[in-house]
Amino acid sequence: MTRTVVAEAYGGPEVLALQDIELPELVEGQVLVDVRAAGTNPFDAKVYSGEMGDDPARLPMPIGLEVAGVVAAVTPGATGYTGPLTVGDEVIVTNINGGYADQVIANAADVGRKPENLSFEQAAGLVLAGATAWHLLTNTRVGTGDTVLIHGASGGVGLMAVQLAVAHGATVIATASPARHDQLRKYGAEPVAYGDGLADRVRAIGSVDAALDLVGTDEALDTSVELVADRSRIATIAGFARAGELGIAVLTGAEGGQAIRDAARPELVELAAQGRVEVTVDRVFPLVEAAEAHRYLQTGHARGKVVLVP
Ligand SMILES: NC(=O)c1ccc[n+]([C@@H]2O[C@H](COP(=O)([O-])OP(=O)(O)OC[C@H]3O[C@@H](n4cnc5c(N)ncnc54)[C@H](OP(=O)(O)O)[C@@H]3O)[C@@H](O)[C@H]2O)c1
Repeated sequence: MTRTVVAEAYGGPEVLALQDIELPELVEGQVLVDVRAAGTNPFDAKVYSGEMGDDPARLPMPIGLEVAGVVAAVTPGATGYTGPLTVGDEVIVTNINGGYADQVIANAADVGRKPENLSFEQAAGLVLAGATAWHLLTNTRVGTGDTVLIHGASGGVGLMAVQLAVAHGATVIATASPARHDQLRKYGAEPVAYGDGLADRVRAIGSVDAALDLVGTDEALDTSVELVADRSRIATIAGFARAGELGIAVLTGAEGGQAIRDAARPELVELAAQGRVEVTVDRVFPLVEAAEAHRYLQTGHARGKVVLVP
């Protein structure tokens, strides 16, 4: 039996409730993990809101895509993306449903060793945001000598995109509210406030080779197409409605995206272990306060990852 946060209906954060759930027996290739921290993501809210479909047959629906914890049981030969797994290993788990829980069952292939220098709370926020950022940079071919404009650079995905772009040798111009500029400077980016006159402020800093939209506003999309000559070097993870009209890429886990994101996991873990990417944890809530955590996340201005602990 494990306590798991489920959506009991489709709606706002108030639909989230803690229930006792019977976990099935492990089958070959699976591991059981005691959760120490569960990462929250804006996508979780899109799932329970009904935006991604509202089939009543899926209720009650377990929530949570990534956790960090300790391996409690393994099946023979279980091997994760960083190597063989044994009981007691401190790990990061992704590609699950129901991570807001005391325990989760995962496919071993989705489990990797947690770098020792990361807390469980940090580790729970590394991979989904980091792999999404990796996908954005790969798709837009950002590398040494490029200048990349990142919209929404102070969010969970944005902070990872900034650090990864800098690690890949790019110059980064990063939009965020002024209170977040010092952190972006610390990571090597040139921060700029979003809002009226954004394109002119960016032009004053320099020309731009590629742009990543992590917020989906008209301002972010229009500024990107105004400043980047080659539209194959603009990608969005949030501006789904206008991407087709603008001729820019929309990136999700579909159409091979998940394979790119999964392949990034060992690299992310290694970069984190080397201290070349950090995870900023803003707030930690107990599992029973999942709804409160989501109300905070939905302000759209969290100052890093929002994490739940059992
Ligand atoms: N397609 C995919 O595969 C995928 C994967 C992951 C995430 N996403 C989506 O990507 C978005 C970002 O995710 P996240 O986890 O990074 O969210 P998050 O941590 O909640 O960050 C939101 C950020 O947006 C910034 N922001 C708010 N209004 C803005 C504006 N008008 N212009 C520029 N920035 C603004 C905020 O910055 P300030 O606080 O500085 O104002 C905040 O740092 C979400 O919509 C999420 O659903 C999509």
